[in-house]
Amino acid sequence: MANVTVIGAQWGDEGKGKLVDWLSNRADVVVRFQGGHNAGHTLVVGEQVYKLSLLPSGVVQGKLSVIGNGVVVDPWHLLSEIEKIGGQGIEIGPDLLVLADNACLILPLHRDLDQAREAAALNKIGTTGRGIGPAYEDKVGRRAIRVGDLADREALEVKIDRLLAHHTPLRRGLGLPEYDGEALLSELEALAPRILPFAKPAWLLVNEIVKSGKRVLFEGAQGALLDVDHGTYPYVTSSNTVAGQAAAGSGLGPRGAGFVLGIVKAYTTRVGEGPFPTELFDEVGQHLGTVGKEFGTVTGRSRRCGWFDAALVRQSVALNGITGIALTKLDILDGLPSLKICTGYRLGDQVFTYLPAGLKAQRSLEPIYEEMEGWAETTHGARSFRDLPANAVKYVRRIEELIGAQVALLSTSPQRDDTILMRDPFQD
Ligand code: GDP
Ligand code: IMO
Ligand code: MG
Repeated sequence: MANVTVIGAQWGDEGKGKLVDWLSNRADVVVRFQGGHNAGHTLVVGEQVYKLSLLPSGVVQGKLSVIGNGVVVDPWHLLSEIEKIGGQGIEIGPDLLVLADNACLILPLHRDLDQAREAAALNKIGTTGRGIGPAYEDKVGRRAIRVGDLADREALEVKIDRLLAHHTPLRRGLGLPEYDGEALLSELEALAPRILPFAKPAWLLVNEIVKSGKRVLFEGAQGALLDVDHGTYPYVTSSNTVAGQAAAGSGLGPRGAGFVLGIVKAYTTRVGEGPFPTELFDEVGQHLGTVGKEFGTVTGRSRRCGWFDAALVRQSVALNGITGIALTKLDILDGLPSLKICTGYRLGDQVFTYLPAGLKAQRSLEPIYEEMEGWAETTHGARSFRDLPANAVKYVRRIEELIGAQVALLSTSPQRDDTILMRDPFQD
């Protein structure tokens, strides 16, 4: 297959950034297709650590990178991320980065609304507070300002009026100060000359690249269980995170997704609120969090940790049409005497092999576990499948069986090259 689509198969932070960076030297272009700077992707190359939120992870290997129409873009954040990564020796100009001219903008009023709602809510979602949800609401509500509008003062004036007609009463209701439309207009005009050089019809570029026989690597953000349709609603993000979104969020048709590589952590984590059937509140959970350095890249919050949930990932395999998986952070399980894998759930006298959609049910599920022996040896930094202890191999094989998908890549440390290739997604 010519193209590869990388998506998170759990609740995000599975290691997508590391894998996209590793795979990007086999691709010609890397394309983000949803989400925004709520994502936090950490890449480790030797002594250098790169933290990316909005920039596609292909930039580190100097690959042409595209922020597609499905992404919501905070232009101030984009410029600061370009500057930050520039300070690490990666110069990003319009030759390297393309921003879809039809992508919608995240404005300061979106961030205000996100944070004010979270502060006021009794049932908090635990968002990243970066304005993602309100920006998508305005997109669907047909009142968003898009990248291309920055070139058209008249359009901006009309759109700002329309936007404020919606936001002013909302802001009043939340006790936020009145928003100054004139000030927003001048801020956007000041920003325009720095953003517009990157703005292009990205859909056209991506289609031409594919037509010329080149290879696209799609980079998903978040994870399938945070998908606005398929996730643990309402404790989700505001975009479709499943692989199908690669088509709509980039302007390449559905045949373009190619090999769908689900990134799967060898245990489960979640940051923010919401149901999590295999969550651990004991010392094993703490151990996973400490050894796995499970702190959010964007907000610094501790991630909740739990056992591997095969029922959840099996569902994700179906929802995304996963061709194969990349299993990450196996090394974090080193030294645990025994491991549990969730194979389904019990709710009263009912048994579920999938996560039922209702919030009440999701909160009350009791995981059904099978137990396996752990391994005392280290897998950290292993570069060959043959080097893995027998029980680690058994664990991997059992996961494959239960989720109905095979491991194509295995990651054994944060470092780019500590990655075992078992089946090349670009050659499949
Ligand atoms: P993403 O959002 O899916 O890109 O994942 P994050 O970057 O937010 O979180 C994954 C974290 O685990 C990062 O700090 C990575 O450097 C790290 N990581 C990725 N793969 C491995 C692995 O196989 N082993 C270990 N120990 N760390 C890993
Ligand atoms: P990456 O790409 C993990 C979570 C937030 C919150 C919910 C909604 O690094 O895997 P939002 O700000 O999107 O409205 O928050 O989604 N969330 C993530 N959790 N990884 C992410 O991205 C996430 N992006 C959003 O914590 O629960
Ligand atoms: Mg992350």
